Amino acid sequence: MKNVASGKASPLLGLANWLPAKRSLISTGRWFSTTLLAIMVATTVALAADDHNPLAGDPKAAKAGEYEFRINCALCHGLGARGGGRGPDLTRAQKKHATSDAVMFQIINSGIPGTAMPANGTNGQGVGMTDQEIWELITYIRSVEVKAPAKPIGDATHGKELFYGDANCSLCHMISGKGGRLGPELTSVGGNRTVEAILDSVRNPSRRLAWGLTEPTKEFAQEYETVTVVTVNGKEIKGVILNEDHFSVQMMDTNEQIYLLEKDKLRSFQKSRESMMPKYDAAVLNDKDLGDVVAYLINVGGK
Ligand code: HEC
Ligand code: HEC
Repeated sequence: MKNVASGKASPLLGLANWLPAKRSLISTGRWFSTTLLAIMVATTVALAADDHNPLAGDPKAAKAGEYEFRINCALCHGLGARGGGRGPDLTRAQKKHATSDAVMFQIINSGIPGTAMPANGTNGQGVGMTDQEIWELITYIRSVEVKAPAKPIGDATHGKELFYGDANCSLCHMISGKGGRLGPELTSVGGNRTVEAILDSVRNPSRRLAWGLTEPTKEFAQEYETVTVVTVNGKEIKGVILNEDHFSVQMMDTNEQIYLLEKDKLRSFQKSRESMMPKYDAAVLNDKDLGDVVAYLINVGGK
């Protein structure tokens, strides 16, 4: 679907085709990381003996860490570490890889081989963070963690029926390749977001718009903002923004039609932070049914 005049890969092509420009960099990183693995294993032993963050609980360190996080990590992990288009939510107490402070140190320092998670330490690659800075980041991440572990809150089988049936989620969302595309793909949302964040996305879609897929050159992820344009011919199109720069906007309307439009050729161009997703209040989807849908998302996303 490279139907876009700009020649950029469409964000809809999926994760695999997402970062063509960066691919070479990533594979160098992978080679580097593999070579590094042996050294890592050795150093892990030394570090594990010191599985203790010297800055734990220090509010000043957390503040410094928050600043570093905004600059170096929010691009992928989202502002507030709540997850972005490319990196998981780090506010979940239950981490997939970072099972302790020492392991988290290792991950931030050396990256996770074979994934987009880059090395950030002083080992030649990446941004060259000092040990102190890495501990500050860990202090910050610990300070924003949601303490209560998320436990499944419903019947996933019924949730799936609702998702593809009465609740109409699949009109706009795809899971494992099935469904609509106006809203973000939700296959991994259950693994990347807290239950609270998902519940809030459904009850109050406009409060925090989801991140879209981003290009590596963009400092911050694009959000799923709503846009309404009127073309020269007077045609009104409403949809979500997929991509935007000073001169052009790429958008998708409710029929999943994609447009690449030059802004100065439009009669009007209006953005809004009112989500295209309808607000599901308890009258539309009661708490139990919503719990079932979230259980389904967590079931899919946890795999
Ligand atoms: C280019 C995108 C990108 C950047 C930049 C990035 N990360 Fe990541 N990070 C990822 C991805 C993707 C994963 C998940 C890898 C996987 O599990 O497949 C990850 C995983 C992690 C994990 C492990 C999470 C878990 O559940 O165990 C931690 C901790 C982490 N990142 C911290 C950071 C910090 C701190 C920074 C900034 C210094 C950072 N990351 C920068 C993409 C990124
Ligand atoms: C008319 C289209 C539409 C329908 C129907 C719809 N959504 Fe959405 N959804 C969107 C759009 C657009 C966004 C992105 C903007 C935003 O965050 O509100 C979104 C965002 C989300 C997010 C946030 C994703 C993230 O990465 O943070 C979740 C979760 C979600 N929807 C779940 C659901 C569920 C569950 C249902 C069914 C109960 C549903 N949606 C029905 C269009 C829709």
